[in-house]
Amino acid sequence: MIYQIYPRSFADSNGDGIGDLPGITAKLEYLSKLGVDAIWLSPFYRSPQADAGYDVADYRDVDPIFGELADFDSMLEKAHALGIRVIVDLVPNHSSDEHAWFQAALKSPAGSPERARYIFRDGRGAEGELPPNNWQSVFGGDAWTRPEGQRQWYLHLFDSKQPDFDWRNPEVLDEFEDVLRFWLDRGVDGFRVDVAHGMIKQKGLPDWDGSQAMVEGGNVGPMWDQDELHDIYRAWRKLLDEYDGDRMMVAEAWVKPQARLARYIRHDEMQQAFNFDYLLARWDANELKEVIDDSLAQSAQVGAPTTWVMSNHDGVRHTSRFGLSQPGARPKGINAAAEQPDEALGLRRARAAIHLTLALPGSAYLYQGEELGLPEHTTMEDRFRQDPAFFRTDGHEVGRDGCRVPLPWIAGAPSYGFGPSEASWLPQPESFARYAADLQERDAESTLSLYRRLLGLRREYGLGEGELEWLQSPRKDVLKLRNGAVTVLLNLGDEPIALPAGKPLAQSVAQPLEGELPGNAAVWLLG
Ligand code: GLC
Ligand code: CA
Repeated sequence: MIYQIYPRSFADSNGDGIGDLPGITAKLEYLSKLGVDAIWLSPFYRSPQADAGYDVADYRDVDPIFGELADFDSMLEKAHALGIRVIVDLVPNHSSDEHAWFQAALKSPAGSPERARYIFRDGRGAEGELPPNNWQSVFGGDAWTRPEGQRQWYLHLFDSKQPDFDWRNPEVLDEFEDVLRFWLDRGVDGFRVDVAHGMIKQKGLPDWDGSQAMVEGGNVGPMWDQDELHDIYRAWRKLLDEYDGDRMMVAEAWVKPQARLARYIRHDEMQQAFNFDYLLARWDANELKEVIDDSLAQSAQVGAPTTWVMSNHDGVRHTSRFGLSQPGARPKGINAAAEQPDEALGLRRARAAIHLTLALPGSAYLYQGEELGLPEHTTMEDRFRQDPAFFRTDGHEVGRDGCRVPLPWIAGAPSYGFGPSEASWLPQPESFARYAADLQERDAESTLSLYRRLLGLRREYGLGEGELEWLQSPRKDVLKLRNGAVTVLLNLGDEPIALPAGKPLAQSVAQPLEGELPGNAAVWLLG
């Protein structure tokens, strides 16, 4: 199981309200006790933080807000000593506009080698006053910006502070091979490749009128999923294979259908890709079953493991999605004006859903805080918001801040123990007190205890390497399956269902089952 750490929000060691690397180091025992095999860290590199670090100004250094390289080394050493592998985020599609290369490009003339590392073009219109094409940014607005006093425009699929590299330029390739080596030499076990489906754009940059929604299950258009991308991953795989141990890559690629996604995990490319179809699946037995079958079939075609993920730092936490009246609907964010999720129902379903996720063969990815059952912050005041998506859409999109709120570690402490002070870069809702890790540590029925139990059993029964077999489901809204010795019953409906024979190993509800499994609940049975 791989656990995603969003460093800004995990643990703050010095009280400035921003999580940091020493904060992570201090919590590694907690992760080890949870049963984590590896951690994936969202970016901690030097960055003006225009997109929370996904705008990198120096790929080979730690941003002072997170610490320094020596802090990274100590974190890595301690993680390895605890048997936890470390995967870092690689952001190759774009840099920060404050990256030395982009600054040099701005100072260099059109057609210069400095500009050729990015995608600069002349505009359209008599004076070049219109963008070179009609592409839209994933965060809203035009995907092109014309810097003050300049003739040319540059492309940015995301924020204007995130200029896209030109991956057809060999210099970019060389630079990133060097960056990979930098971190591999330091001892990292792998990379999560950001926007892995976006680095190569169709030649000629043709106009495209489709929508640019990021969380609708797959980007399409001439800026996404181009075949030449795979040459890059083949080159990277060769490089990784030069190193000892199992160094790996996992793709963040919002492509559809799963057969296209499987191309990223062919035997000479990446080892894994996030399964966003699973993340986006509704609270619906049929839909879940279809997605699971499709995922397993497509990854089997290329001989790679499937992944299972329900939440990350880019979408509404699944506890809250499952608490909406259209459960599993795909909101872009939830604010105070929107329908408020039923928190108790959402949590109940999330506790049931993890029985499915962790029973499936493949790699499970958890997002920090889901082991506490944390909900989305759905009533955050706009004045606190930081996500560029909020600003670029004039607030039409709430953005992703609601899932990025700093974690509660100690119920009675300032910032709920996130750090030694009151400071927290995003406000924490009062409800976070109930979810604090220290309370859950002491409660055998807590979500934290449940996750620990399930992860222990998953390891004990080898479920990650096992095989899935669907069993005859007793009802349309119930999933029944077996993986080795473990039978899983997930009741997605509201009505109870008779419990089959077998010794309960784990269950999502606290009360004894007495012959039936209630609605929105799940159980693992032996036999
Ligand atoms: C990925 C990241 C997201 C970021 C975007 C631009 O989708 O997960 O957080 O905003 O890339 O780098
Ligand atoms: Ca800090």
